[in-house]
Amino acid sequence: MLAVESVSKRFGGLMAVDNASLVLEPGGIIGLIGPNGAGKTTLFSMISGFVAPSDGRILFEGTDITGEEPHRRAERGIGRTFQIVQPFAGLTVCENIAVGAYLRHAKRADAIGKARDVARRVGLAAELDRPAGGLTVAGRKRLELARALATEPKLLLLDEVLAGLNPSEIRDIIPVIRGIRDEGVTILMIEHVMQAVMNLCERVYVLAQGRMIAEGKPAAVCADPRVIEAYLGHGAAARLAAEGAAHG
Ligand SMILES: Nc1ncnc2c1ncn2[C@@H]1O[C@H](COP(=O)(O)OP(=O)(O)O)[C@@H](O)[C@H]1O
Ligand SMILES: [Mg+2]
Repeated sequence: MLAVESVSKRFGGLMAVDNASLVLEPGGIIGLIGPNGAGKTTLFSMISGFVAPSDGRILFEGTDITGEEPHRRAERGIGRTFQIVQPFAGLTVCENIAVGAYLRHAKRADAIGKARDVARRVGLAAELDRPAGGLTVAGRKRLELARALATEPKLLLLDEVLAGLNPSEIRDIIPVIRGIRDEGVTILMIEHVMQAVMNLCERVYVLAQGRMIAEGKPAAVCADPRVIEAYLGHGAAARLAAEGAAHG
């Protein structure tokens, strides 16, 4: 479905993404994890077309889309959420979701109908006619998810949709994400909440300082010394192993 081939992005002197590759088969939920500043959001922006790679190419369903506009990629079926959630505060929840739905529905009534349908799926049905500006953080995260879903994506890129939610809000939204996967949407999710990654993802890629340093099943990846070092610093894996031995 998606092949990111040796993609790099340079911002001035900084290699935000450095020769990163990734392959997604259709179906399933795949994680993208890594410390802050690793280049995860930049990689999403290159897949969705908001940032042009300095090098490498991106294929979607076998077609090279590297130079395509974000709007064209959305038409192909690549949807994304944004890490910084910015709804149109003056519009209702329904109208905000309809903005996404207009991609495939030219008529207002159809777009609104699609928006209502998506709102139900993400648990926003009761908020449809409220101003988006009045939503809680959890509500805004659901709205962000709904806006992306309303474009009817085949591939959905989720950028930290659980960030800022409390444990019970996370418990509530996990089945929503699973439900989207069950309807046939392939999901690539950036996530810091490891419990959710373990719960949801079949496979995980790990980005650190722009480089893809590991890939595999979540449990194996989290036990990988390279990954522990990337998060906790040089020597951390050895220190943890020594502590583990000391505590039996
Ligand atoms: N538009 C930009 N211009 C300059 N530097 C950027 C830009 N976007 C991101 N960066 C830098 O690129 C690096 C990767 O950022 P980002 O992709 O947001 O990481 P992550 O999402 O993994 O936290 C960071 O050092 C960040 O400051
Ligand atoms: Mg980010």
